[in-house]
Amino acid sequence: MIIMQDDKRIKISNLNELIKSCKKCPLHLSRTNVVLGNGNINTKIMLIGEAPGRNEDLEGIPFVGLAGKLLDSLLNENNIKRDEVYITNVVKCRPPNNRTPNKEEVSSCLPYLIEEINIVKPELILTLGRTAGEAISIIFNYEWEGLEKERKKIREVMFNGTKIKILSTYHPAAALYKPELKELLRDDIKTASKIIGNKHKNLIDFM
Ligand code: URA
Ligand code: SF4
Repeated sequence: MIIMQDDKRIKISNLNELIKSCKKCPLHLSRTNVVLGNGNINTKIMLIGEAPGRNEDLEGIPFVGLAGKLLDSLLNENNIKRDEVYITNVVKCRPPNNRTPNKEEVSSCLPYLIEEINIVKPELILTLGRTAGEAISIIFNYEWEGLEKERKKIREVMFNGTKIKILSTYHPAAALYKPELKELLRDDIKTASKIIGNKHKNLIDFM
């Protein structure tokens, strides 16, 4: 077991070294920091956002701004701490003025996300917003039916011999401005926490 966890740790740090020096798409030109995935690599639940925003770009850590604070508080309502989950983004560099990353940028960065999923092997992936939901539908080769429909279903995919559940929900940044979306996001995070139960507790944390 210890050997397997060491193996994961080595794999993720090798991957992160690669991402840190990545210049595969034009987003590298305007970034302050590459924003790597963060949290517990032994977790059962992986959260995926769209792209770093201003605060994330400055600090080099995902979801540290206002949207991140909302996300933290909704996780806490379900007794899930930030360091018990793994959080990453579809693209690791901030798009200028927080615009949505385009198709080319997403496909340049997607191999990193695939490798993160391969290393972490979560039981559940929670996608935050359309960009993340669509990116995951591309990786697992199913038709994206739009957030309204997707959030009502739990998809199950096989990935390198591991079964992964996928739940799609709204982005916390959207929920900051629309109270009705905040309630739906709250419901979906509750659903996610019910799926994983207490399995996120007592994990050895190497990061
Ligand atoms: N929004 C995202 O999608 N990701 C972050 O890391 C911060 C805000
Ligand atoms: Fe590389 Fe992704 Fe950054 Fe583009 S967004 S430069 S692909 S790490």
